[in-house]
Amino acid sequence: MSDVLLKVEDLHTYFYTYEGVVKAVDGVSFDIRKGEIFGLVGETGCGKSVTALSIIGLIDEPGRIVSGKIIYKGKNLLELSEEERRKIRGKEISMIFQEPMTALNPVYTIGDQIVELLLLHEEGIANIKRAPKELKEEKKKKAIEMLKLVRMPDPERTIDSYPHELSGGMRQRAMISMMLATKPSLLIADEPTTALDVTVQAQILNILLDMKEKLGISILLITHDLSVIAEVTDRVGVMYAGNIVEIADTYALFDNPRHPYTVGLLQAIPSVTEKKEELKYIRGSVPNLIYPPSGCRFHPRCDYMMPICKKEKPKLVEIEPGHYVACHLFGGE
Ligand SMILES: Nc1ncnc2c1ncn2[C@@H]1O[C@H](COP(=O)(O)OP(=O)(O)OP(=O)(O)O)[C@@H](O)[C@H]1O
Ligand SMILES: [Mg+2]
Repeated sequence: MSDVLLKVEDLHTYFYTYEGVVKAVDGVSFDIRKGEIFGLVGETGCGKSVTALSIIGLIDEPGRIVSGKIIYKGKNLLELSEEERRKIRGKEISMIFQEPMTALNPVYTIGDQIVELLLLHEEGIANIKRAPKELKEEKKKKAIEMLKLVRMPDPERTIDSYPHELSGGMRQRAMISMMLATKPSLLIADEPTTALDVTVQAQILNILLDMKEKLGISILLITHDLSVIAEVTDRVGVMYAGNIVEIADTYALFDNPRHPYTVGLLQAIPSVTEKKEELKYIRGSVPNLIYPPSGCRFHPRCDYMMPICKKEKPKLVEIEPGHYVACHLFGGE
């Protein structure tokens, strides 16, 4: 399909630790369309970040992508050389993290960091000191425009600040504008608002919406927060223990969740059920990914468990147009 920007196909990413092989991502498939915000949601440790790092090509020892395909604009990224991957990583696919301090350089001002990226990506100049003064001025003006785009307060002044002089929300904005300097087609945002307070969280989510609407950027938004998913995503994939258990339009997922795990997740969110006194939790605990349960990994926690669930891993099947579920209740054998 031509409106697909990125297609993840049967991805397996494992970590070879002393304790055993952690099957962190074990057969994950989904696609991200041009200009959409695709959400990936699930409890801690289910493999969301490992999926993101696999896409951007930052899985390190003891981890390895064991099999699968990651097709970006028709090319399988897993077949590219390290150099070709690095090019795509810097330019076409960008990632923002939960704590932007780790990605910002503490000894340079925000402005210098954005100008440096603009010089590199627009002029091919790798060293800011080598750039002519007028060119630097021109890029600085552009950097201010970019800070305005991410609604940075007082951009003319902020541009000369160092990262530690900014609040968490402002750092996240600086980080996003740095990402925009390379004009990516896909932005991966891994828990971009988790460390921020609620008002700042809402502002950052609005910036992501702006980027989608004004710049046409596709976004993979990773979060364990279903209210964030509800607010900004177009479609969602629900992950459980290294697998995707359900994919649907966001509205359909909240309106008509089908996988017992998704149903449980939604019931555990007060703002969705609006009946706080009846809040339910999914019984049991998140499985160990070295020795995951056989068959459907959710079976030990599932109220609808059938004999087949212990034996066979259910496949993701389309039960309604665009709504996919991996569950034996829906014929996923
Ligand atoms: N470098 C590593 N070495 C060994 N195991 C790892 C490594 N990185 C991740 N894992 C394991 O892979 C699994 C998936 O981790 P991942 O970070 O993707 O979870 P997550 O869904 O992003 O969770 P969270 O919501 O807490 O960020 C976990 O069991 C984790 O312990
Ligand atoms: Mg994570």
